[in-house]
Amino acid sequence: MITCGVVGATGLVGETMIKVLQDRSFPSLSFHPFASDRSEGNIVRYKNRNYPVEIIRPEAISKGMIIFGATSANIAKKWVPMCTEAGALVIDNSSAYRMDPDVLLVVPEVNGHLITGEENLIANPNCSTIQLVVALAPLQQLGRIKWVSIATYQAVSGAGTPALEELKRQHDGTLPANPANRIHENIITSIGHPDRDGCCSEEVKLMNETCKIMGQHFPLFASTARVPVRTGHTEAVVVKFDNPVHRDEAVRILEESPGVIVSESGSSPLDVEDTDIVVVDRIRNNPGDPSVLQFWVLADNLRKGAALNAVQIAEEYLTKIDMK
Ligand SMILES: NC(=O)c1ccc[n+]([C@@H]2O[C@H](COP(=O)([O-])OP(=O)(O)OC[C@H]3O[C@@H](n4cnc5c(N)ncnc54)[C@H](OP(=O)(O)O)[C@@H]3O)[C@@H](O)[C@H]2O)c1
Repeated sequence: MITCGVVGATGLVGETMIKVLQDRSFPSLSFHPFASDRSEGNIVRYKNRNYPVEIIRPEAISKGMIIFGATSANIAKKWVPMCTEAGALVIDNSSAYRMDPDVLLVVPEVNGHLITGEENLIANPNCSTIQLVVALAPLQQLGRIKWVSIATYQAVSGAGTPALEELKRQHDGTLPANPANRIHENIITSIGHPDRDGCCSEEVKLMNETCKIMGQHFPLFASTARVPVRTGHTEAVVVKFDNPVHRDEAVRILEESPGVIVSESGSSPLDVEDTDIVVVDRIRNNPGDPSVLQFWVLADNLRKGAALNAVQIAEEYLTKIDMK
């Protein structure tokens, strides 16, 4: 039994983390919810007990503790070093350490075997990346991937509590929105600021993180958009292989892949909200090119896209510790 903590326990990912830890009967002896001074003392329920929200301080951290991070990257950089230096394992959901060459970036179904049990920090990928690689990695059995093109339709909860509140207030009419940041009955075609090449930060994350997790470099053409959906990211994916591929073979491979449900029904984000599955839908060959597959990928961004993946990383880590 171990002591675990969630930093950002009052946010969307943190709250989902607490649900997932309970759903999966995570073997924790004691629990610490951490957040900002705005929430200090508020009560969080975990496994039928009340815990007051704390501000994260060195006294609260002990060797062997597992700490799940669910804060922004800037905040993570302030508390993560303190925890790793104290001998805790941090599994961080923010982008702060994802591309650090010394830090594993893990989706357990794809590269969980890299976890040794010696780590003090493991990064959880971006939500849109996690569901993509769960579908993409098994398809490497069909041949070498030449390039991937992806267009995303990302839910508002992916941008955290303030964004979800804005959607609600724009819907109610209590927040007059200017067209630049209106999400209700609208689509925002840039998630994060564009860089010098014109790629927004969500697109750069998808490109870099996908290649790091899959251990293979291929061009990835990403276009990311925020849509007025509460929860559940939807992705339209096109994969070009070096060789001809058959959609029936892709279906067979994905049906046998962990965490994946293959569908033909034209799934929507409502079908994946509050579930742990990655749905791969309408897998088809492109009529103009036998080496191209097209399909949709959907998942709950707060569960598999964040909290569930982080808890699965912790479970894999504990398995490796037990094997020592
Ligand atoms: N939302 C998603 O679908 C998703 C998916 C993958 C990854 N992520 C990443 O996960 C992280 C959390 O996202 P979110 O959507 O849960 O955001 P959120 O709903 O805005 O929650 C942010 C959390 O951070 C806490 N916090 C703020 N300042 C703090 C401080 N100084 N010390 C400790 N805690 C502090 C907040 O506490 P207070 O309530 O006290 O302010 C709150 O609990 C982000 O890095 C995000 O990029 C999110």
